[in-house]
Amino acid sequence: MMRRQREPAAETLRLGQDRLRLRPWAGDAGTGLLILLTPGAAVSDSIASAAIEAAAGRGYHRLRTSALSGIESEPFIRAGFEPCQVLALLSRPIANGLPKPNSSVAIRRARRRDRPSVLAVDNAAFEPFWQLDEDGLRDALRATPFRRFRVARHDADSAPAGYAISGRSGPTGYLQRLAISPSQQGQGVGAALVIDGLRWMARWGAAHAWVNTPQHNTGALRLYERLGFEQVSPGLQVLEMNLGQ
Ligand SMILES: CC(C)(COP(=O)(O)OP(=O)(O)OC[C@H]1O[C@@H](n2cnc3c(N)ncnc32)[C@H](O)[C@@H]1OP(=O)(O)O)[C@@H](O)C(=O)NCCC(=O)NCCS
Repeated sequence: MMRRQREPAAETLRLGQDRLRLRPWAGDAGTGLLILLTPGAAVSDSIASAAIEAAAGRGYHRLRTSALSGIESEPFIRAGFEPCQVLALLSRPIANGLPKPNSSVAIRRARRRDRPSVLAVDNAAFEPFWQLDEDGLRDALRATPFRRFRVARHDADSAPAGYAISGRSGPTGYLQRLAISPSQQGQGVGAALVIDGLRWMARWGAAHAWVNTPQHNTGALRLYERLGFEQVSPGLQVLEMNLGQ
């Protein structure tokens, strides 16, 4: 197998209306991550093939997509990708009885200088497949036109116990990312951050909130369902293709 010397730079692939971002997978420079920059619809078969060609040309030996809906998956399945992770998709209306905030958890805006400790929390909380690096954190923050990036602490001096990124696009809210340090889990920090995000979405008139999580992440599913989310079928999937290099 060819060994990569240097990590390839992130780039944007454009063809007609379609745009895909190609960058190294966090912690695995030999795997490329393809992110749909025009989500909600299927890209053309031509850009799916062009992405495979570009990734092979950059020396990636494997290509993975971000989490895709059924319709978004179609051109990639036709191009030879296969499912590698299944995600549950959950939604709740915002108007109906938002839970009360928990005043014992201190939540404040995340600053640029919080990013290293946010990434440390993220990497401790998630299994390697789902861990973010700096680029991934930036992508999560840029994924929607409006965002709320918060850290939670037990007191002002302690390191962040957890963080959340929420996003809004028109009437739709998204819980983009949520992670709590393993030693701080089970104390209501995750719920407090989700409620903070939902209340922000409500203030700006969002009608629905959406979140996804790996189907096997029973802890997160329980938390979201306790806070009024319901699973929507079908869910999402991450697709993968070996490029044979
Ligand atoms: C999923 C995750 C965000 C939950 O965060 P958390 O802070 O542990 O969540 P909470 O403490 O609010 O709720 C978890 C449980 O603790 C219980 N709990 C809440 N407050 C509590 C308190 N003060 N004392 C004891 N238990 C408490 C809740 O009842 C809940 O119980 P349940 O498991 O029966 O539902 C966290 O486990 C995590 O970061 N996991 C890894 C990353 C991840 O999965 N992220 C989200 C999916 S993409």
